[in-house]
Amino acid sequence: MTKKVVLITGANKGIGYEVARQLADNGFIVLLGARDPERGEAAAKKLRTGSSDVHFVPLNTIDEQSIQSAAEMVTKKWEKVDVLVNNAGIFPEYSLGIRPSLLEVSMLKDTFETNVFGSFGVIHYFLPLLKKAVVGQIVNVSSTLGSLGSMTNPDSMYSETNTSAYNASKSALNALTVALAKDLLPEQIRINSICPGWVQTDLGTDAAPRTVEQGATIIVKLAMMEHPPTGKFLDDDGEIPW
Ligand SMILES: NC(=O)c1ccc[n+]([C@@H]2O[C@H](COP(=O)([O-])OP(=O)(O)OC[C@H]3O[C@@H](n4cnc5c(N)ncnc54)[C@H](OP(=O)(O)O)[C@@H]3O)[C@@H](O)[C@H]2O)c1
Repeated sequence: MTKKVVLITGANKGIGYEVARQLADNGFIVLLGARDPERGEAAAKKLRTGSSDVHFVPLNTIDEQSIQSAAEMVTKKWEKVDVLVNNAGIFPEYSLGIRPSLLEVSMLKDTFETNVFGSFGVIHYFLPLLKKAVVGQIVNVSSTLGSLGSMTNPDSMYSETNTSAYNASKSALNALTVALAKDLLPEQIRINSICPGWVQTDLGTDAAPRTVEQGATIIVKLAMMEHPPTGKFLDDDGEIPW
């Protein structure tokens, strides 16, 4: 199969949906992952215009059985995945304005469940499909809020958002990116963390300065590269401190 296949998790709305739209426009076979069948199918249908090749893949990233079933479906129908965009994520403490010292353990666990364990689970079950691509690539959608360098830099606008569960989950996701990049280098699998910036979505809220088009830019740029880098933490301006 000459066309590139991309799987995007949590792609029924927000940044993931916009990445799906742009990559479909650029000739990718887009596998639009979503946990809710109605929302997922509706989003895929909306993107199926002209020659775009978009398919809904049921995928709840915190349900191992769901990830396994999705990997089986993709193996049968498309045989490979060139790019995995690990986009599904949650930030429940933000809208609730919860201070780190008042965070409930359950919210820390839930945030890690999606942002860390879910992302790792999708990598685990889709690795055999990524290995079938000429150059398999994973884009972990992280956040500069998970950058220890930015959190501790008083001049960084990100140091002001002193949330704990989300920040720690994205730091953990970044640590997985680094470890997997080193491990998978000999197997031609590239993996990077990215930050889309502060983006107007349900998660980012209307107060955010960036549009979803802008948020999707760095992800689409990496997905389109023939020789993507590996083991980097990137945004539109270049490398972010870990
Ligand atoms: N917006 C920002 O300012 C910003 C900044 C930095 C990083 N990010 C990151 O960008 C990514 C996308 O966020 P967004 O801003 O586009 O948020 P969003 O509009 O709230 O979209 C989040 C997506 O993730 C999905 N999702 C959540 N849990 C899931 C699960 N267990 N299985 C499958 N899908 C799941 C949601 O599905 P449902 O519709 O079913 O809930 C939704 O499709 C996240 O990883 C976020 O941390 C965002």
